[in-house]
Amino acid sequence: MSIKVLFVCLGNICRSPTAEGVFRHQVEAAGLSQRIQIDSAGTGDWHIGKAPDPRTIDEAAKRDYDLAPLRARQVSAADFAEFDYVIAMDNENLKNLKAMQPADYQGHLGLFLAFAPEENQEEVPDPYYGGPEGFTLVLNMVEEASQGLLHHIKENHLS
Ligand code: 4NP
Repeated sequence: MSIKVLFVCLGNICRSPTAEGVFRHQVEAAGLSQRIQIDSAGTGDWHIGKAPDPRTIDEAAKRDYDLAPLRARQVSAADFAEFDYVIAMDNENLKNLKAMQPADYQGHLGLFLAFAPEENQEEVPDPYYGGPEGFTLVLNMVEEASQGLLHHIKENHLS
């Protein structure tokens, strides 16, 4: 049986696709692709079916992550039946996810940066309306939190 991880942001075109691509890369590098499945989604519906934001694709490509094939989708209550980890980028995402979370959900719903305590921040900030430095910041935070999440899953489920 594999562990299933869903990353969630608002639009599913900036932060959560970055997390999907980076975490998948780390999982593959660790030889755990058969044990950990990864997806991403947005709480909003504006970008359904769209590729990630070009700024997100370009920033990730600088570090050899290929996000271009990803397509946005909206999160739904049914996702809680499938995913062991539902990981929110910010507190607004988390609030919206808590509102749709079934009462009997046994998995982990929480903030991504809880897995990067050295960041001393709770949220991966929305880069959509900001400048290019916001996209670099997102990628840095996502790389760090992905390492923490992978370590956590290995310790708690795969050891
Ligand atoms: P994301 O960024 O939640 O990281 O994908 C955003 C993308 C689009 C919008 C907001 C945030 N938007 O308002 O369309």
